[in-house]
Amino acid sequence: MKAVRLAILGFGQRGMIYASYAKQHAEEFVVTAITDTDPQKREIAAREYGCPVFDSYEKMLSFGVDADIIAVATQDGDHPEHAIACMKKGYDVLLEKPIANTLEGCSEIEKAAKKYGRKVIICHVLRYTPFYGKIKEIIDSGRMGDIVTVSTSENVGYYHQAHSFVRGPWRNSGSSSPMILAKCCHDMDLLRWLIGEKCRKVASFGSLMYFCKENAPEGCAKFCSECPLKDCIYNAQKIYKEYRWMANYFCNEKGEEAMLKALKGSQYDRCVFHSDNDVVDHQVSIFKFDKGITASHTMTAFSRTIYRGIKVHATKAELVGIMEDNFLELRVLGGGTEVIPIDTADANGNHGGGDIGLMHELYLERNGMPVKNITYLDVSIDSHKMAFAAEEARVTEKTVDVL
Ligand SMILES: NC(=O)c1ccc[n+]([C@@H]2O[C@H](COP(=O)([O-])OP(=O)(O)OC[C@H]3O[C@@H](n4cnc5c(N)ncnc54)[C@H](O)[C@@H]3O)[C@@H](O)[C@H]2O)c1
Repeated sequence: MKAVRLAILGFGQRGMIYASYAKQHAEEFVVTAITDTDPQKREIAAREYGCPVFDSYEKMLSFGVDADIIAVATQDGDHPEHAIACMKKGYDVLLEKPIANTLEGCSEIEKAAKKYGRKVIICHVLRYTPFYGKIKEIIDSGRMGDIVTVSTSENVGYYHQAHSFVRGPWRNSGSSSPMILAKCCHDMDLLRWLIGEKCRKVASFGSLMYFCKENAPEGCAKFCSECPLKDCIYNAQKIYKEYRWMANYFCNEKGEEAMLKALKGSQYDRCVFHSDNDVVDHQVSIFKFDKGITASHTMTAFSRTIYRGIKVHATKAELVGIMEDNFLELRVLGGGTEVIPIDTADANGNHGGGDIGLMHELYLERNGMPVKNITYLDVSIDSHKMAFAAEEARVTEKTVDVL
């Protein structure tokens, strides 16, 4: 098999993860071009990868980059423009989720893929984790009987919510995506994939309850660096020292001093009660699938750590699991309990091994080999429709059909 030529459009957190995988697996990938509008990112790209680097996708595409696929890892709202431009030039696209932040944007990409005859692969990384892979395997084996209902939970973590959804790129649904799409389109995809039926109806409730000015403690400042309340759990200096990976969004330099300097006065230094966020901090959605199967999904900001949970109830058994603990138990109705081992050797890196799994399967797919989890646009669009319907249901407080 030959190494896949990969070009990257958007060299942020995600683009860098794909590039870094390529570097560590030179037999699978070679990075042939990188584009980013941020000069510091371009400097890192040129230094680390030694490939042609561009400051706009127009320049990269007119240069005629040598690529088997282009990874589009820019922000949600840019996906239609960037993905369509790549397809128009004849490239297949590895597209970060969400496909787009509106249903119209998703349809435009779908139409362009048909028009230009290109493949679009969506980065639903959780499908590739040993944890969800095992759940899918057990369900498909028939041991559990027929699925009746599934409940999933997405516990965002209080510090992660503060970073991404109060201060960061996904804080405002107008400029980015609603929470159910930005954070939970993976969960919608997992429900659709595990249940194996179409979702038809959704109801959903949720709101922004806590991260708003009414809840600001007395005496707090607008920026954490100026705030006298240093024991606040949302203190930005404390959070970014402890969770350094999140600071990569505003600081490309190494070292704590440089990070704190970049943080001071930036959007990430803002008090969580005085930001311009509007996305929800909790949301509960319920889904009706074909064959009368039901599902629910709970997203909450209010968890001490980041973790996802799942319960699958079927006619012969129930499965209970927590991904981050690699905990999975099969409880047979009228029978015993089986602890299901998860192969943690493949659960390394981000997303419980999902990022690595995606890249390896992409390598196989590009070489015409059989693949299990690669998610093309036509399949991914179903989960996006679920998310858009759930958001409409939340806003209107009505049950919404998934079209
Ligand atoms: N698959 C997953 O699990 C997963 C996880 C996190 C984020 N995402 C998605 O990945 C995408 C990127 O997220 P991120 O966390 O890497 O964000 P990021 O902000 O770190 O990266 C985006 C990059 O795009 C660059 N950029 C902006 N406009 C550009 C343009 N016109 N041309 C070229 N580059 C441009 C920015 O400078 C930045 O480096 C988003 O759509 C996000 O929702 C997916």
